[in-house]
Amino acid sequence: MSTLNQGDQTIDRRSLFKVGGIGIAAAFAPNVLTSQHAEAAAISNKLWIPPKISGKTFNLKLANGTKQIAKGALTKTYGYNGTGFWGPSLFMNKGDEVTLNVTNGLSESTTTHWHGMHLPAEMDGGPMQEILAGKTWSPKFKVMNNAATFWYHPHMHKTTQKQLALGAGGFIFVRDSIESALALPRTYGIDDIPLALGSRTLSSSNQIGTTTIYGDTMLTNGVANAQVDLPAQYVRLRLLNIESERAYNLGISDGRKFYVISTDGGLVDKPIPVKKLLMVPGERYEILVDLSNDKIGSTISLRAFNKGLTFGYGGSEPAKSGDFGSLLNNVDFDVLKIKVTKPISTGISSLPALLTKNVFPVKSQASKARAIAITDNGPGTPFTFDGKSYSMDYINQHVKLGATETWTITNDRVFGHSFHIHDVQFKIISRSTGPIPAHENGWKDTFSIQPSEKVTFIAKFEDYASSEWAFMYHCHMANHEDGGLMGQFLVEK
Ligand code: C2O
Ligand code: CU
Repeated sequence: MSTLNQGDQTIDRRSLFKVGGIGIAAAFAPNVLTSQHAEAAAISNKLWIPPKISGKTFNLKLANGTKQIAKGALTKTYGYNGTGFWGPSLFMNKGDEVTLNVTNGLSESTTTHWHGMHLPAEMDGGPMQEILAGKTWSPKFKVMNNAATFWYHPHMHKTTQKQLALGAGGFIFVRDSIESALALPRTYGIDDIPLALGSRTLSSSNQIGTTTIYGDTMLTNGVANAQVDLPAQYVRLRLLNIESERAYNLGISDGRKFYVISTDGGLVDKPIPVKKLLMVPGERYEILVDLSNDKIGSTISLRAFNKGLTFGYGGSEPAKSGDFGSLLNNVDFDVLKIKVTKPISTGISSLPALLTKNVFPVKSQASKARAIAITDNGPGTPFTFDGKSYSMDYINQHVKLGATETWTITNDRVFGHSFHIHDVQFKIISRSTGPIPAHENGWKDTFSIQPSEKVTFIAKFEDYASSEWAFMYHCHMANHEDGGLMGQFLVEK
């Protein structure tokens, strides 16, 4: 199964469409489609809000669990701290020295990566920091990031897709004095809502397909057909894409404007009005939605407007079954139904005009222009960077501590990807396909790169050097990453 999965990237998906999306996929029939999705959809489910942990010491334990996702049999899952699917939200303050004790309660190895955080490579939780079954890993670091929404998840080479698909992950909320001083919704679970978006495929016995590219059942925080009550004020949604490959072209069902207030790594200068927000795996955006004119009791939804998604984005394929197929492909579907309830006393009724004042590195400060290409070795082979499949023993890039660099990623292959780099938050400075969308003008650590596109970002590699422990850069489509589309860089003195 895994070879099929890892090899998927280089099969020209357009040729599969000609045969109705069946192709070689049908022969393997990895996940038999059933009416489960329909049954799941028939259950009205309250959105699950992950429990909150704050302080300076965070104890996490990843273990097997179960969750009632659809009618009938319980679904076997992975989750942290007995949550079933997913894990608690960790609230950290900028400047704090934190310790995380991560116990692996699975019967297989894992790692835990703090996605988006700036920290020493040894504490990063990449594939090198393996936590054997039954063991505890205790990284410590100073929280250096600005207030934003980060996340943690397994990063074990070749099993990231499986462990993520089964539910292992969680949010990290970083708070700082700038964000705290703003009149923004921040009552957790009431008007400040984390949303982990990921479809999963359920077998006829309700078990999650761990090598499936696209799920048929939309899960929001692990809940199918999720519904939430939100006050008739501004509400803050912290969006995270936890798919293997699917992109979400998010909008509100009635087409109203909403406002991006934060990108992956921090607040934007001022709220950016948008009607649609396209998100690839690993990306986060915080948005404000104005519900203050909505009638109490009325309903709207956060919707994926994925019908007509451009080929290259995950889930654009029209096939309903087969390897690149899904009932959710190339259709619009709700990710969260919202019922408007009465305002809360701590609620927010106006939009802040200004949020922060970002200072991004500029090209004239860059001492190196690095170029990285997405490659493969011909049809049926996995994607690689610069012709080299990921190897823990190979350092792809050496970066000098303190250097500001531009990195240009080139994608001349058939499908789009989600590029992510550890250690730094960067600024995208060019897209060969056109202007940088307004909402990408912020600190980012993950971005979409489409076929025939070149994207350049600029970043400063500071504070932490090691000649032993590497950081990763990779495609955040978990099956591509597991298949070798990952590289390592050292930041050295
Ligand atoms: Cu969210 Cu290297 O990953
Ligand atoms: Cu990829």
